[in-house]
Amino acid sequence: MRIHVHVHADAEAAAAAVADEIARTVRDRPDAVLGLATGGTMEPVYARLIAAHRAGLSFARVTTFNLDEYVGLPPGHPQSYRSTIRRQFLDHVGVDPARSHVPRDDLPPDRAAAEYEAALAAAPPIDVQLLGLGRNGHIGFNEPPSPPGSRTRAVDLSASTVAANARFFAPDEAQPKRAVTMGIATILAARRLLLLAVGTAKADAVRAMIEGPVTDEVPASALRGHGDVTVVLDGAAAAGLAGDVGLTR
Ligand code: GLP
Repeated sequence: MRIHVHVHADAEAAAAAVADEIARTVRDRPDAVLGLATGGTMEPVYARLIAAHRAGLSFARVTTFNLDEYVGLPPGHPQSYRSTIRRQFLDHVGVDPARSHVPRDDLPPDRAAAEYEAALAAAPPIDVQLLGLGRNGHIGFNEPPSPPGSRTRAVDLSASTVAANARFFAPDEAQPKRAVTMGIATILAARRLLLLAVGTAKADAVRAMIEGPVTDEVPASALRGHGDVTVVLDGAAAAGLAGDVGLTR
């Protein structure tokens, strides 16, 4: 098993550990390439990185690539991932807008995907890719089934993902059902992967990712084919694991 699993006392401690890891990466390599994720799980991570910036950590030379973006929202919509990552992180830490990348939502999705792959190919490899975890085992918006060789592409969201993300949209608002996402192979090209999952709603997906079969039906299980993966959990998300909680394996 090449996944290192770290279980923390609570969600706050888990987010703090992830933020510390990102901060350490940027301190060691001020021109690091960071892979960013959105989702509720990441909000406390970004809040801590903003605090680190205010305490002196510079993000002026980093490059960022977000995992994914909705298709079909009006450009500039507050729940687009471009708006979200700016509001929650980028606008507060001085990342150069010319070096922060999100799949474009103002292009036809197939073209946005092709442009994103080209931008990734033109940049140095991502030093550390942050990942959340969908309740159905998705990473980015790689819904089941997602093949390990997939690259950035337009995808349909599963009904369970649309339901899980409904909380970010007003009840009378049209919610996107498609997205452009880095593919599994795109994600696995990062030097290091750092996945954060907290809460009981993620426990089944965490168990399937780490202890189930490696299968396209659990896209996160593909992470086991990468040599440098750290999974950071709280006790609730780790509750389904048969292995000893608290061990790094
Ligand atoms: C979303 C995103 C993923 C995210 C996951 C979990 O739909 N596309 O990148 O990791 O689902 O989201 P949350 O942290 O809100 O549970």
